Amino acid sequence: MCGIVGYIGASAVKKTLLDGLKELEYRGYDSAGLAVMQNGRIEAFKAAGKLNNLVNKTASFEPKGFAVGIAHTRWATHGKPTEINAHPHRGERSYVVHNGIIENYQPIKAELIGKGVKFISQTDTEVIAHLYESFLAKLKDPFKAFETTVQSIEGAYAILLIDETAQETIFFAKKGSPLQIGEGESGRYLASSDAPLIGVCESAIYLEDGSWGYVSEREIKIFIGKNIVSPQKKPLPATQGAAQKEGFRFFMEKEIYEQTKAVGETLASRLTANSARLDELSADFFDEAASLRLCACGTSYNAALSASYLFERLAKIEARCEIASEFRYRDPVLRKNEIFIVISQSGETADTLEALKMAKKAGLKTLAICNVDNSSIAREADATILTRAGIEKGVASTKAFATQMTVLWLLAIYIAQRNGADEEAIAKEIGAIRRVPSALAIKPERHERIRRLSKRYLHGHGFFFIGRDIFYPLAMEGALKLKEISYLHAEGYPAGEMKHGPIALADAELFTIALTPKTILKEKMRSNIEELIARDSTLLAIGGDEAAYADDRLDIDERDHPMLEFFETMTIIQLLALEIAVRLGNDVDMPRNLAKSVTVE
Ligand code: M6R
Repeated sequence: MCGIVGYIGASAVKKTLLDGLKELEYRGYDSAGLAVMQNGRIEAFKAAGKLNNLVNKTASFEPKGFAVGIAHTRWATHGKPTEINAHPHRGERSYVVHNGIIENYQPIKAELIGKGVKFISQTDTEVIAHLYESFLAKLKDPFKAFETTVQSIEGAYAILLIDETAQETIFFAKKGSPLQIGEGESGRYLASSDAPLIGVCESAIYLEDGSWGYVSEREIKIFIGKNIVSPQKKPLPATQGAAQKEGFRFFMEKEIYEQTKAVGETLASRLTANSARLDELSADFFDEAASLRLCACGTSYNAALSASYLFERLAKIEARCEIASEFRYRDPVLRKNEIFIVISQSGETADTLEALKMAKKAGLKTLAICNVDNSSIAREADATILTRAGIEKGVASTKAFATQMTVLWLLAIYIAQRNGADEEAIAKEIGAIRRVPSALAIKPERHERIRRLSKRYLHGHGFFFIGRDIFYPLAMEGALKLKEISYLHAEGYPAGEMKHGPIALADAELFTIALTPKTILKEKMRSNIEELIARDSTLLAIGGDEAAYADDRLDIDERDHPMLEFFETMTIIQLLALEIAVRLGNDVDMPRNLAKSVTVE
């Protein structure tokens, strides 16, 4: 999704901005741009498509010495992904970059047009620059003009604005979209996530919603409303950590292979000989808990849904799941003795963040399961359990899902212990969860078999991933992975529901990917598969129940726990999606139309 970088200093401004954008590239975008101010003059460049197009466009632009710069990667919301709609947007003398959506841009635009202002883009963002300049003309003071602009706009935003009449200054405003300020030896930085700041800044100031102000060479001034806020600095890691492909073709592939290690990290120090330990939770965290409400989007929602089976089965606590974008607007009934759990890799997903705020406002205790420390969601929740997946660059989530599932399983064991579950049952879970890293290890021959098989699954009129129990959400996750990167239509369905409608689609050109574990509901699953085979659906069975009479089979190892079968099956559906997408020639790490972190609703 859109990314923002700002810089004030004397260290190769163009390179600094482009390097910053590069760090945000994996989040998904369709155009990019930058603007640099030196000696009261701004030069701006924009390009549709990949960042390299902007690099080529700015090849002969070499500003030397002190400069002020803003830069942006855009993921189109209002208007096509063209060069004109790329940011920065300009007025007469000011330039703006913006993440989020200005909800009242239409009346503002109409009013400005009425006053003779000419607009050239289809974006909501352009109104900010023109509105600012109209206030500047009246107030003759950039600071007051920016303050009035911020007061006049509605919606969710992170904004940087530079103005030729306010040299050495970047104005900023933040509401609902992430924005942070970093200070380093070579200058002051602003960014929409930590990534561009790591390695160049030691600490960051994470702006609260409603913050606005300016950063100049001399000072950082932050306001909320009219009040000055003292910045709270938080340390940043010294390096970006592992973010190279390390010999793999794609980040996604590397991240699938990394799951063994990532889950090892997730579990580190969270298991004793016979119990789950979650030091992040106060001893009384679940004291009043009568039920759990899990809320998330996309893959994280699939993790929530799988986990709801574990919470009810192991911990005997009611667990309901919510898609965050639905939850927000359906006036849900919330009970104070319910624990509200949000799950998010990025910690910045707008719908999940807003759902979390709603639950907090309603007085619920909140818990975030999140991969990014200091993210908006991690900061908002009463408690956070970090998944420790490390940076996930592939847009299609893999190791983030594996680590979320591990934390959720741990949490289910943890609550089961508190609820007085049988010691033997807990010991069995602890023994099994320890073996997740080995269940995630990928054998070269398995990968090769999937690669070869993938060539048979490139056409057809659709895919149904089917499963039962925890394998139903996993089927949904398999379908999501496939459609994200292959652009083939795929649905995840409860196997027992097929006969209530979707089976009408069954013929040889319908690909059914059946998840067939041996340890759970295997006879039921077998019957569902027979129904599809009888109607000639082409069927790939992943799991290994011998009776699954399928066209193709990918068997997993003998496992004595459904969750271990779950994790191993998960690696297979991830690799299958990957290999199909590769054969179709798609950009696996940055699939079309998608963004890694969805910061608009
Ligand atoms: O960062 P989050 O976990 O909150 O993101 C939620 C979804 O946008 C995300 O899981 C998305 O569905 C992935 N691209 C799936 O691979």
